[in-house]
Amino acid sequence: MNGNVVIVGGGIIGLSLGWYLARAGLTVQVVERGEAGRGASWVAGGMLAPHAESEPGEEALLPLLVEGLRRWPAFVDELEAATGMSVDYRRDGALLVALDQDDARKYRFWYEFLRELRQPVEWLSGYEVRKMEPYLSRSAVAAIWSPHDYHVNNQLVVLALKQAFTQAGGRLREHTPVEKVIVEGERVRGVLAGGERLEADIVVVAAGAWSSQLAGLPEDVCPPVRPVKGQVVILQMPAVEPVLQRVVWCVDAYLVPRSNGHLLVGATVEEVGFDPHLTAGGIYHLLRRAWELLPAVYELPIVEMLVGFRPTSRDDAPILGPTGVEGLVFATGHHRNGILLAPITAQTVSHYILSGELPDEIRPFTLDRFRR
Ligand code: GLY
Repeated sequence: MNGNVVIVGGGIIGLSLGWYLARAGLTVQVVERGEAGRGASWVAGGMLAPHAESEPGEEALLPLLVEGLRRWPAFVDELEAATGMSVDYRRDGALLVALDQDDARKYRFWYEFLRELRQPVEWLSGYEVRKMEPYLSRSAVAAIWSPHDYHVNNQLVVLALKQAFTQAGGRLREHTPVEKVIVEGERVRGVLAGGERLEADIVVVAAGAWSSQLAGLPEDVCPPVRPVKGQVVILQMPAVEPVLQRVVWCVDAYLVPRSNGHLLVGATVEEVGFDPHLTAGGIYHLLRRAWELLPAVYELPIVEMLVGFRPTSRDDAPILGPTGVEGLVFATGHHRNGILLAPITAQTVSHYILSGELPDEIRPFTLDRFRR
């Protein structure tokens, strides 16, 4: 297909989709209101964790998350080969650690849910957990061990994607808010951005938490996406002896060790709209949970603290593919799973744009499900 594509939003979803489409020979512009990759994609923990992040009640989403993970190794190979950059993809597994009997009962229920769905998780005693991660608190009484939850440095991924996208011929317009999506009759015609009309055959809304705020979308085509605020703290581990090897969760928080020595403590889950502030309560909560889990945290220097906004749909699942307006496509609403689902979103949505065929994996995740 020949065509002009405008992607609204330069996060991990917009950039990876833009890269796939530019490589396929389309003329692609990614239009980003701020600096590309500096929104939720930057603040994320980078967990590729279909098991740790899918809760009872999310059975319909789990197959997409598992397939999303399956597509990461090839995506990393392609991205690293295209850019010569490493993205710190680590297949270390994850632990969900219970710090008391209440947590243990909760995680046991969760473990049984995952086992019923034939997911590869194991139940560990407190002794077994501390053998794997010796610096964990002696309060650890049990854990779910999920050897197939991986992680990646999401900040390196978006930096690599920016390079890969522009190398493939894509045009990145940063600091350019989209004022309006232009829809005429039943068809999209482009966008108004930075005072300029950008003509397009295809417009993709990948604007994350801001997707529902775009002007110009017909009312019944507005994606039901809202911001869910997350605060994170990044600490510096000692270079000689990292205090953690694997991603570790407890109820309400998680710790992600990165190969550069950073230890990310995440994340609050707050329904406060686009409130951009770090709060004493949010940071206190994260550091208290991190210290209860890993007492050595007490001594670690703080590198930085960040706020991001998860793009959360009404059912926590992404909104992908056609919209009923010809040429208008959605790739938004990824909630907690934007990093995990970036490759599968880019692959399936680019396939749809290039061929007109909607891949089976994303059929249950179109906007249509909210209209029925
Ligand atoms: N995926 C991690 C979070 O949403 O906090």
